Amino acid sequence: MDKVYIFDTTLRDGEQAPGATMNAKEKLEVAFGLERLGVDIIEAGFPVISKGDFESVKSVAKHIKNSRVCGLARSIKKDIDACADAVQCAKKSRIHVFLATSKIHIEYKFKKTKDEILQMAIDAVRYARQKNDDIEFSPEDASRTEKEFLFRVIEEVIRAGAKTINIPDTVGYGVPEQFGQLIHDICNQVPNINKAIISVHCHNDLGIGVANSLAAIKNGARQVECTVNGIGERAGNASMEEIVMALRTREDYYHCATNIKTQEICRISRLVSKYSGFVVASNKAIVGANAFRHESGIHQDGVLKEPSTYEIMKPQDVGFVETGIVLGKHSGRHAFQVRLKSLGIDLKEEALNHAFERFKNVADKKKQVYDEDLIAIAEDESKVVPNTWHLVSLSVVSGTNIAPKATIEISSQEKIKKVSSSGDGPVDACYKAIEKIVKVKAELLDYSIQSVTHGKDALGEVTVKVRIKGKKYIGHGASTDILEASAKAYLNAINKMLFLQLK
Ligand code: KIV
Ligand code: ZN
Repeated sequence: MDKVYIFDTTLRDGEQAPGATMNAKEKLEVAFGLERLGVDIIEAGFPVISKGDFESVKSVAKHIKNSRVCGLARSIKKDIDACADAVQCAKKSRIHVFLATSKIHIEYKFKKTKDEILQMAIDAVRYARQKNDDIEFSPEDASRTEKEFLFRVIEEVIRAGAKTINIPDTVGYGVPEQFGQLIHDICNQVPNINKAIISVHCHNDLGIGVANSLAAIKNGARQVECTVNGIGERAGNASMEEIVMALRTREDYYHCATNIKTQEICRISRLVSKYSGFVVASNKAIVGANAFRHESGIHQDGVLKEPSTYEIMKPQDVGFVETGIVLGKHSGRHAFQVRLKSLGIDLKEEALNHAFERFKNVADKKKQVYDEDLIAIAEDESKVVPNTWHLVSLSVVSGTNIAPKATIEISSQEKIKKVSSSGDGPVDACYKAIEKIVKVKAELLDYSIQSVTHGKDALGEVTVKVRIKGKKYIGHGASTDILEASAKAYLNAINKMLFLQLK
């Protein structure tokens, strides 16, 4: 069985998804999650882009011990310097240098000749190699680059010291047969290719990023670049969980294995969804809420008789939490804590107390409390920012011919403030009331709500994206009452802004 290295770029390309900005603390938490998952290489960011990016790559490099930590750099010295500095303290590090090689990019972006581009690539790799032993080179827009020139660039950058050659399908133009053939040709026509590992990096503009990555693996690629939940520029990158599970489920066909501990997949998917603000669609392969749900009676009957009739993977293999009634209103704090631990959630004392209190309230309101509910409550309480403003109570009047009005009480440092406000709808009224108290003007950019489990009494999880003083913040809130969840999500985004402002 050949090994395929998983190069995760959630923190770099994933974070380039419109609106997906994560703060340094959140990025570090995601990096820990990726390490737990068994990712071989973590691309932690693009250090030259900003001081914040530099510091967050540096922090990932400092804390991550098992995965290799990589930073991205254009083929220019100042990028390579910043990148080398940021990853320097990592136990295992890499510099990823890129330069566009397609005719379109060379002519319009660079206004240079092919020979000049080739020399730039060689110089960049040589320079980077003086700073780090492990250099990856990407000819950007490789899938639209003339083959002959692409092969020349690859040969020369390997000679200059690149150990990994990444073939990006930057604009998602590739189709599986053709992209697979390209990898096959690189394997056979670049004379020194045996000195490097071939990697691929496929975007999902035509919805076939994963298919292209798998075709490349079938033809000799041994590193694959991907993101959790497939987030990334435009339509995103090839999704890590889909590639990993395809390789594992169809081992008979690919004869390749990865280091990924697949039982960690759902956990990292939830974490990335929470911090990026990208809600996972319920029909998303592997990690969507419906990925293992059977609706048709015939299917249900089959699965009960023998799961393999309609399941090609076991839900437990990806860490999918079985929907089961786990605790009730009579359950004690210890049972609650033990159950959370078995779900991989370890809360600190104060967060545990709050979470337990909330669980009791939910158990009072809901007939059945599921593992998913516990996860939503625990994640709500384990937010990385302090609750500067805390929701105390909320009442909303709204109806067909009534102007919506919200009365809200929120507290800060034991002081409770209460105001009322009207609005265009009940959520808007809540948000206007909150703004009156906290004296912060936030522009709501995005609002989404998902039910955590089935049924009329399900917990609702609200995610909001807001802009405050030109910066974007993501907030989450969960409750059986969707207006309460909405208010909590808004307050969470405001608390994040206040926390980051103090730093
Ligand atoms: O899509 C792309 O080409 C990239 C490169 C920087 C690898 O993200
Ligand atoms: Zn990309």
